[in-house]
Amino acid sequence: MSSSLGSWVSVILSAVLTMRWRAFLLSVVQPEYRPPFLTHTHSGARGLSSGVCSSQVPTPSVSEMSERRVCVSDYEADAQRILPKAVYDYYRSGADQQQTLEDNTAAFNRWRLRPRVLRDVSEVDTSCSVLGQPLSAPLCAAATAMQRMAHPDGETATARACKQAQTGMMLSSWATSTIEEVSEASDGGVLWMQLYIYKDRELTLSLVRRAEEAGYKAIFVTVDTPYLGKRWDDVRNRFKLPSHLSMSNFSTESLAFSEGSYGNDSGLAVYVAKAIDPTLSWDDIAWLKEHTRLPVVVKGILTGEDAEQALSHGVDGILVSNHGGRQLDGVSATLDALEEVVQAVRGRCEVYLDGGVRRGTDVLKALALGARAVFVGRPVLWGLACEGEKGVVDVLTLLKDELRLAMALAGCRSTAEISRTTVKRQEFTSRI
Ligand SMILES: Cc1cc2nc3c(=O)[nH]c(=O)nc-3n(C[C@H](O)[C@H](O)[C@H](O)COP(=O)(O)O)c2cc1C
Repeated sequence: MSSSLGSWVSVILSAVLTMRWRAFLLSVVQPEYRPPFLTHTHSGARGLSSGVCSSQVPTPSVSEMSERRVCVSDYEADAQRILPKAVYDYYRSGADQQQTLEDNTAAFNRWRLRPRVLRDVSEVDTSCSVLGQPLSAPLCAAATAMQRMAHPDGETATARACKQAQTGMMLSSWATSTIEEVSEASDGGVLWMQLYIYKDRELTLSLVRRAEEAGYKAIFVTVDTPYLGKRWDDVRNRFKLPSHLSMSNFSTESLAFSEGSYGNDSGLAVYVAKAIDPTLSWDDIAWLKEHTRLPVVVKGILTGEDAEQALSHGVDGILVSNHGGRQLDGVSATLDALEEVVQAVRGRCEVYLDGGVRRGTDVLKALALGARAVFVGRPVLWGLACEGEKGVVDVLTLLKDELRLAMALAGCRSTAEISRTTVKRQEFTSRI
């Protein structure tokens, strides 16, 4: 009996050791491979969850990891290794089959740049302004909810990073830091408040008033979320906030998304169905305009008809967005919707774009098609997960440097020189 128990123990031990050795060997021959037992320590370094392999697995230092990251997808790959699965899934996912999520990035490949040469590009100025606020580049941080799941400093780190990069940050209504904390961290940087209109209108207006008092420069009202899109991973994971976090701008448990149970569904979908107003109509935009002195931008426009409506209800700006492919799956990529909106607007307000921007050339293409500036959502989260404030600065700097190089190589010395002639649609020839 005892000898058969002994042989079982030795079989299990040798299997475990073999797995560890395989992981070790793989990590040596294939540097991108990191064994799954490596987990995040929020300094940005990856530590070992168990001490067993600490002397066997070479763990790169933070600086080695930063040096290896040369593009946004490198940040995503590291963030995926660092973040708990349910958090990474929540940040990454799109709705349903994720066609629109995929198409947002693919759309940039359907356009080609038309460079102009011999134009003395020794000086290239990426600066621009959004609603009168000067920025170092037409590249800003989009509202993304619950950033303290990515890093303990959450939205305050993003605010400090945006200030350092001299760009603007849009704060989500569903932030895990308060409006006031973010304003303090930003220390005079450019902030905009993203607003969900709640069934409780007094509550909604209290967010607007707090943003006004804290020095935010505009309200971006989200109009594509009467219900939450169905994100399969969030349903599978029964996504909810970790128990130590809450949506900090709300005082009751139910509004702060910190209640214990949301059943078998995505907790956030249940929350939205309870709290957010699906009766929203254009009258509510006029109502919001009446109740704030701040400029109002509608976030989530994809058609020329709605751009017209927005203008006739007095908006100050339009953000062409499909919520990063997280709402209605099957809608156009934002880059494909941009021209229609720009043509309907005919210069009557500023038009911005978000969705799928991952490279400097993407920014250049969006500007060529009429966007005044672009917003990035997930790339900021990947930077935040990797190295907090520094990671966000790095991602924004990387994109800005890519934009500057792309502008130089395309012969554009300033954002004003980027025009419709800078791009052309890629022709696809049939193989038949
Ligand atoms: C994890 C995550 C959370 C988001 N939270 C919000 C939000 O609270 N309010 C909102 O209006 N949009 C939200 N968005 C949408 C973004 O503001 C933006 O439209 C989108 O991320 C742009 O696409 P990109 O991630 O491909 O850059 C969120 C997007 C992601 C990925």
